[in-house]
Amino acid sequence: MTAQPVALVTGASRGIGAAIAEALAPTHRLLLGGRDEQALARVAEALPAAEPLPMDLTDLASVHAAASGIDRLDMLVHSAGVTTIAPLSDTSVEVWRRTLDINVIAVAELTRLLLPALRATTGQVVLINSGQGVRPSAGWGAYAASKFALRAYADVLRAEEEATGIRVVSVFPGRTATDMQREVRAAEGGEFIPDDYLRPESVADAVRFAVEAPSDAHLTELTLRPTGR
Ligand SMILES: NC(=O)c1ccc[n+]([C@@H]2O[C@H](COP(=O)([O-])OP(=O)(O)OC[C@H]3O[C@@H](n4cnc5c(N)ncnc54)[C@H](OP(=O)(O)O)[C@@H]3O)[C@@H](O)[C@H]2O)c1
Repeated sequence: MTAQPVALVTGASRGIGAAIAEALAPTHRLLLGGRDEQALARVAEALPAAEPLPMDLTDLASVHAAASGIDRLDMLVHSAGVTTIAPLSDTSVEVWRRTLDINVIAVAELTRLLLPALRATTGQVVLINSGQGVRPSAGWGAYAASKFALRAYADVLRAEEEATGIRVVSVFPGRTATDMQREVRAAEGGEFIPDDYLRPESVADAVRFAVEAPSDAHLTELTLRPTGR
């Protein structure tokens, strides 16, 4: 009997990450990354083969501890992320550092640590980007800059790992009905109307589609926009 493939999903405690974990659960053993151990335990309980992998992406020692001992990994999904809505004139150094630390630097370091494990299975890396990673808008400066950096990171990783066969997918969702979007709408002074946005499960379905692509096909980028229906 062949062992079940293993997927590590960051941001798995809620939102898009939790939906991705659920979508992969029928076929993968899951390692659920996040800070909130109780929330991770609740997500794990509902899945057939999943365990919490607590890590704080602002603390590189915690990232190293989480990655240690993983020597085979079929999928690494980076879903954890943060945003702050503010004009550049009001964006502090602390916001810039926190946004880049979590959305870019932790992604680069966790991937670097796990590359040998991903090469061992000819695995896949999925990076949850954003429409702001392609077309930035006013008020989204630090977040958009972090997602542009994430897109560049993904493109370089894909080029560098071509010879090893690791596939790298950037996913660009539009507004999605999660806690993050609730906070965004509050900062924008608008109403949070879940039906106007993508469902986290729809983003997770796109990830699943990329994962299931036959080995001759490398889906490099997937863009999703809400229809409001
Ligand atoms: N929602 C949208 O409209 C939207 C649109 C486009 C792209 N995205 C992207 O989609 C991804 C997921 O967003 P979401 O909407 O699901 O967000 P969310 O509901 O706010 O969830 C964020 C996740 O990131 C984790 N996280 C935040 N800071 C962390 C840290 N320091 N260490 C470890 N984990 C941390 C959270 O874990 P804790 O529970 O421990 O806080 C949580 O699991 C993000 O990369 C976001 O940029 C979202």
